[in-house]
Amino acid sequence: MTFHVLTLFPEMIREFATHSILGRAAKAGLVEVKPLNIRDFAINKHGQVDDAPYGGGAGMVMMAQPIFDAFSSLSTTQNTPVIYLSPQGHVLTQARAQQLSQEKEIILICGHYEGLDERIIEEIVTEEISIGDYVLTGGEPAACVLIDAVSRLIPGVLGKEESHQNESFSQSNLLEHPHYTRPPIFRGREVPEILLSGHHGNIEKWRQEEAIRRTKSKRPDLLKI
Ligand code: ADE
Repeated sequence: MTFHVLTLFPEMIREFATHSILGRAAKAGLVEVKPLNIRDFAINKHGQVDDAPYGGGAGMVMMAQPIFDAFSSLSTTQNTPVIYLSPQGHVLTQARAQQLSQEKEIILICGHYEGLDERIIEEIVTEEISIGDYVLTGGEPAACVLIDAVSRLIPGVLGKEESHQNESFSQSNLLEHPHYTRPPIFRGREVPEILLSGHHGNIEKWRQEEAIRRTKSKRPDLLKI
């Protein structure tokens, strides 16, 4: 799976993708993250990629041409998703991440300033995705979130120890049950006795009940979907 990331800050993306599970997945050839610097496609000698908005007002708008030329330099197929990270998009869900993990390639566009010239969105963007109802200074952190959420769903990216079993949102809309490790008592707080019982059936039942209890108390909205 290849993520092409059109950005003014390629190092932010590159750095993110070299660590931890993503870094390992890249070394194993499972995921490739390829930042493309939009500024390299500026046509004026100052490397200009933004300009004042028509109609006036504060802030700058990213010009359509450098983004279009960056996009055109990629030899992706016609049905490759072209995602603009934007607070105006649909909020990313586990279900959408799951669908995206089936793609061979994805193009991500990171905006800055007031956003992109609307015509580049009309011309090349197939979908706008937001990572939540708040505004970031640019699309790069959102692209990293999307890359992370999608990559970990690609077969082989997570090792056995990091498996998807039981994790929040994976099979149902339930949050995960609580986890404990050694020691058995920490600052007077004991590990629930059932987890030390060795009775797998009872442990499984307890985990299911805890998942439901937690979801009701922490994210009741998930049970209403
Ligand atoms: N760019 C700025 N804010 C964003 C958000 N919430 N999600 C995705 N991209 C963004």
